[in-house]
Amino acid sequence: MRTVIHNIGRLCGILPASVRRLEGERMSQVESLDDAWIELNDGIITAFGRREDSQPGINADDVIDAEGGYVMPTFCDSHTHIVYAGSRDGEFRDKIAGLSYEEIAARGGGILNSADLLHNTSEDELFRQSLARVHEIMAKGTGAVEIKSGYGLRTEDELKMLRVIRRIKETVPITVKATFLGAHAVGREYAGNRGAYVDLVCSEMLPRVAEEGLADYVDVFCDKGFFTPEDTSRILEAAATFGLRGKIHANELAISGGVQVGVSHGALSVDHLERTGQEEMECLRSRETMPTMLPGASFFLGMPYGRAKDFINAGLAVALASDYNPGSSPSGDMRFVMALGCICMRLTPEQAFNACTINSAYAMGVEDRLGSITIGKLGSLIITEKLPSLAFIPYSHHTPFIRRVLTPVPSSKV
Ligand code: NIG
Ligand code: FE
Repeated sequence: MRTVIHNIGRLCGILPASVRRLEGERMSQVESLDDAWIELNDGIITAFGRREDSQPGINADDVIDAEGGYVMPTFCDSHTHIVYAGSRDGEFRDKIAGLSYEEIAARGGGILNSADLLHNTSEDELFRQSLARVHEIMAKGTGAVEIKSGYGLRTEDELKMLRVIRRIKETVPITVKATFLGAHAVGREYAGNRGAYVDLVCSEMLPRVAEEGLADYVDVFCDKGFFTPEDTSRILEAAATFGLRGKIHANELAISGGVQVGVSHGALSVDHLERTGQEEMECLRSRETMPTMLPGASFFLGMPYGRAKDFINAGLAVALASDYNPGSSPSGDMRFVMALGCICMRLTPEQAFNACTINSAYAMGVEDRLGSITIGKLGSLIITEKLPSLAFIPYSHHTPFIRRVLTPVPSSKV
């Protein structure tokens, strides 16, 4: 099936296939073509060009008139907890009244509250609630999403979450990656006995998860009050025996050592990074690990924002993701993430765009087929209304300017 989109005002996010991620100064450029067209064959980008360069559209099975709008790659959201039961709006009141995230967690709320809700929700119902959220983010332009477990905290409940993620993978036309986050909090049955809980994660949960092939990555909440770098190291070593790579929660609540332990185990990404110093930055330089920041969590919890600008000025790469979850970021809108990147982290619109597309594609291991306009990649595309500039996207992020989201089925699903 041949599809041609023509009458494109601006085609943006063009990259050669050799570029896996953008670092430093290179994050400031978004390559684009004005008055353009793009051709897809069976969902794969096969050609694009300027209007005057050729005559596309003839003999296409599907011709789409972009009416002068922008065409860009869909967003890749490389860090979410979108599978959860119910909500935590009750804690929202506590938060407004002045309790911190850690205080709410210490009172048995937070992640443990979500674990109780999930335990009492059937797999079908969990799937129904979670799928609705996935449809919501797809309409907002997300074409790939990473989803974590971590509200189970018991073997059967962690497996339940991961099976729901697998069902989502099989149901939606976008790319989904699953991450096992058994070490999100110490389960209630193990209160006061973190070591035994880490044993459970390594010797019971992980083997079951691997046996059923339910996870693409493994995560640990390496932070003050949750898990230590030593716990993280144990879990990452156990994960490596199953061929699973890490994506680590680090430095959200304190300088936790999570960046160092993640990098030393070759994690694909270290995420959050609200609290990082020079040492963390140097540790990440020229490494495979992608620093990923989650400004939605800083916004919602009133925490400092990650130092994305300093990272980029120091020549590093940065990815941005939504962290969509019921406790610290109840939103998966990547346009809002872009806006926060610009307004609160002082990224340029181009830097924020690259952080939400090619770099976040890298942070979830899908940069070979998503995250840019590149021949051979999936034609997973956003078509917008006419926009005055790229800056308009984060500037006016509440304006409903997305006209259409194309999500051809990834070939691995065919
Ligand atoms: O990324 N920080 C740990 N995990 C989530 C929050 C989970 C929750 O509060 O439900 C996060 O912010
Ligand atoms: Fe998270």
